[in-house]
Amino acid sequence: MAVGVIVSTGGGKQHPGKMTPFVFLTCLVASSGGLIFGYDIGISGGVTSMDSFLSRFFPSVYKQQMADSSTNQYCKFDSLLLTLFTSSLYVAALLSSFLASTAVPVYLSEMAPAFLRGTLNIGFQLMITVGILAANLINYGTASIKGGWGWRVSLGLAAVPALIITIGSLVLPDTPNSLIERGHDEEAKAMLRKIRGTEDIRAEYDDLVAASDEAKSVHHPWSNILQRKYRPQLTMAILIPCFQQLTGINVIMFYAPVLFKTIGFGSEASLASAVITGTVIVLGTFVSIATVDKLGRRALFLQGGTQMLISQLVVGTLIALKFGISGAATDVSKNYASIIVLFICFFVAAFAWSWGPLGWLVPSEIFPLEIRSAGQSINVSVNMFFTFFIAQVFLTALCHLKFGLFYVFAGWVAIMTAFIAFFLPETKSVPIEEMVLVWRKHWFWSKFISDEDVHVGNPEAADDRFKDA
Ligand code: BGC
Repeated sequence: MAVGVIVSTGGGKQHPGKMTPFVFLTCLVASSGGLIFGYDIGISGGVTSMDSFLSRFFPSVYKQQMADSSTNQYCKFDSLLLTLFTSSLYVAALLSSFLASTAVPVYLSEMAPAFLRGTLNIGFQLMITVGILAANLINYGTASIKGGWGWRVSLGLAAVPALIITIGSLVLPDTPNSLIERGHDEEAKAMLRKIRGTEDIRAEYDDLVAASDEAKSVHHPWSNILQRKYRPQLTMAILIPCFQQLTGINVIMFYAPVLFKTIGFGSEASLASAVITGTVIVLGTFVSIATVDKLGRRALFLQGGTQMLISQLVVGTLIALKFGISGAATDVSKNYASIIVLFICFFVAAFAWSWGPLGWLVPSEIFPLEIRSAGQSINVSVNMFFTFFIAQVFLTALCHLKFGLFYVFAGWVAIMTAFIAFFLPETKSVPIEEMVLVWRKHWFWSKFISDEDVHVGNPEAADDRFKDA
């Protein structure tokens, strides 16, 4: 038997289906998993910029950051212990992602009809950003609580998104893929009818069954993903999350209040600026939701990458002009600091419609069923590892590389944008079960996939549909 992905395309057309209220609500509830992730990302920067928290847990950092502005501003918050407070969470997430593969993006991609997969999947990223904004707003409010215990409220309120996802996970239905895999064929058909809003589910059902049969013949998904024919998916599972973090986004998300304090804002203004970046990231995500299934993934990656690159170069240069190598600055005007914040917002907005959502969407839609759990585990673990890494090294790197750190991130953005241009084919509207054809047609990845790895019901029709991929 030829070992490969079996795809029966059912005559070369999109599977019938529409956006039903049921699929919309289901995806909304599942997406709420992003809230807790976002809240955790957003909360630590504000808490670690609160004097009451610093003086209690990190007294040496507290003293260091109280020194006047003629000292080296780049090193104000340089403390490995302080960064561990932020980064340790992502080590925990890294370990659990091996067990959970991470459920939400894959769940969304399996539930959504192919033509709306991008829009529905980005609900996850939207919830992440709402969680970040909520955390920033809460920090802004709790910082002014008299008595210096506001940070307790900020940390304690993480229980709210945790409760939401716990309740949500109890009511969510299984995806048709999961039902077929576990032998509940009739329930799978009923679920498909419900989420597609049509009785005409035959072709899609057959595809899912074929993919499931193929997956069952594979006993070791972890070693299976190392096979040559899965090289494109493995490469993306590693590089996309790694690149997403090397954009430097979490420097802003974790440390915005600290960073804004570094460039001359007082406590309150720093937290207010974090609220501004939090708002920009939510609004930017809507741009992605509205365009991802029309313009496609590549256009957003390429435009977003270019805008991020320019913004980082400008931010690095503005900081260099003011703080130079010594890091001492006595006359940072409000206007100057505001222009830096403006370019940070351009950077954040571009991330919000490109690498943010697409860093989750693309990996969730490219793995065939037989390697999906392994592929998604790799994707999430790599993401968490680099999230941890950036959180851990940023404040020390800022102290040593100074404004040059922003040029380092700009360099990475240039590399990842070129990578997308040459190596990522367009995946918009392609049913997941047919994704193998996209790689087969690609100028570079086609070398890794032989004809016997691809089984299509109607190759000519499929060829027509994938000729531009
Ligand atoms: C990333 C996070 C980041 C967030 C910002 C997510 O896609 O994985 O690391 O903090 O976007 O919105």
